[in-house]
Amino acid sequence: MILQSSISLIIFTFLCVNGQSVVNDAKLDNQEIRCLVCDASVKELTAIVKATDSSKTVKIGGHRLDPQGNYDAPKTVPLTQSEIYLSEVIDTVCNKMDDYVRGIWKSNGTLTIIKMVNDGKMNPYMSELDFVQDEDLNRSLKYYCESIMGEWEENIIKYYQEQMDNIEETFCIHESGICPPKLISKSEL
Ligand SMILES: *[C@@H]1O[C@H](CO)[C@@H](O)[C@H](O)[C@H]1NC(C)=O
Ligand SMILES: *[C@@H]1O[C@H](CO)[C@@H](O)[C@H](O)[C@H]1NC(C)=O
Repeated sequence: MILQSSISLIIFTFLCVNGQSVVNDAKLDNQEIRCLVCDASVKELTAIVKATDSSKTVKIGGHRLDPQGNYDAPKTVPLTQSEIYLSEVIDTVCNKMDDYVRGIWKSNGTLTIIKMVNDGKMNPYMSELDFVQDEDLNRSLKYYCESIMGEWEENIIKYYQEQMDNIEETFCIHESGICPPKLISKSEL
């Protein structure tokens, strides 16, 4: 909490020093934010999974009889496809949203969310955006992320178990309908 507010203070100070305007978010569309958070949080999830050693395995199930009375041997699966691992990653991924801020592109007025700092460097796009302040904690980016992950955890786990590509597109647009097809952007910020 203390860390969070000092980060906000730093951001605010940065914005004032740079003479950028801060827009109040009261009128911004929740659906648009939800979509942007869906896209960003699934991309963060993919990055965590990709950074995990794919040669690690875990044994799951087994040591019991199935309903037909056959011995059910434990299965060895890659760690990155195990439900326990994936659900732990999903439980923590929303913390990453603390690094993101809402902004509006000065060039075209489109809402976006970006990471303030990327690989230890200030995001070069910062000066092209007007920033939007969070109204209250319930509407923080983390809050949107937690609501998406809470509702769709099982579905998201399944995609990672199937090692699907572009999960953000399949999930955020096609399965959950969180994003209308036009909102998601292919660009990496
Ligand atoms: C708005 O501008 C930004 C950067 O200038 C660009 O990345 C984004 O795709 C644009 N959005 C639309 C809807 O044109
Ligand atoms: C935030 O959400 C909680 C629980 O849903 C609720 O009790 C609280 O009143 C909300 N706060 C605001 C400022 O909306």
